[in-house]
Amino acid sequence: MNSGNLKQRQRPQAGEPSTGSGSESEPAPYASASRKLPSNRLAWWWIVIRIAFTLLGLSVCLSYLITETAFWGHQSKLTNWRNYIPRRQQTFTQAELAKYDGSNPELPLLLAVKGDVYDVSAGWGFYGPGSTYHIFVGRDASRAFGTNCLSREDHLTHDIRGLTPGELAGIDGWHSLFDNHQRYFKVGTVVLDPVDPQSPIPPPCDDAKAKPN
Ligand code: HEM
Repeated sequence: MNSGNLKQRQRPQAGEPSTGSGSESEPAPYASASRKLPSNRLAWWWIVIRIAFTLLGLSVCLSYLITETAFWGHQSKLTNWRNYIPRRQQTFTQAELAKYDGSNPELPLLLAVKGDVYDVSAGWGFYGPGSTYHIFVGRDASRAFGTNCLSREDHLTHDIRGLTPGELAGIDGWHSLFDNHQRYFKVGTVVLDPVDPQSPIPPPCDDAKAKPN
C-alpha cells in the first residue's frame, strides 16, 4: 500500500478540495443494506397487488359466467369501462344546447340539470323525439324535475325560485341519477341566462306527478 492510497482515506484538510471518494467508499456495505429495505417492501406490496388482481379477475370471470355481468349484477358508473375514458368538457350556451334535442339525428341527445349537461343518447327510448321525456332534452328544465310538472312550459326552466325543500331535494335526486348513471355521462355545463328577480314565479302545477302522455 503506498502513501497515495493512505492519503485517499484521510479527511480532506481545510482548504483542500474534497474528491468525495473517501466518504463514498467507506459506508458502502451499510448503504447497500439500506437500499435493499425499500425493495423488499416493494416486493411484498407487489405480491399483495398481484393476489388482489388475480382474485378480482377470477370474480369477474365467475360473475360473467353466472350473471352475464362483470360485477354480480351490480351496475353503476364505476362498472362501465367507458366512464374511465376522460371526456372533453364543453361549455354550452342555451341556444347551443337546444340543438341537441334529437331533431338532428347526427347529434347526441343532451339534457341539463342544475347547469350540468349530460349525454343521454343511451336513453333514446325515453328522450328521443316523440318519447315521453323528450321535453327534457336540449334544455335545463330543473324546475320540472323538482315540481314533477311536465305539462307546462313555464316549469321547463332552470328557474328554481320558490321551490320547497322537498322539491329542491327532488332536483338533487335527478341530478345524482344522471351523474351516477351507468350509460349517461357528463359532457359539460350550460351558461344559463340570469333569472329576472322581478319576473313572476311560475305558479304550482295542478297535474304535477301525472305521467305525461
Ligand atoms: C304517474 C307518473 C309516472 C310514472 C308511472 C312513470 C313511469 C316511468 C317508468 C316506468 C320509467 C322507466 C324506468 C326504467 O325503465 O328505468 C320512467 C322513466 C323516467 N321518468 Fe317517469 N313516470 C312518471 C312520472 C314522471 C315524472 C313526473 C317525471 C319528471 C320529473 C318523470 C321522469 C322520468 C325520467 C326522466 C325517466 C327516464 C329515466 C332514465 O333516463 O333512466 N317521470 N318513468
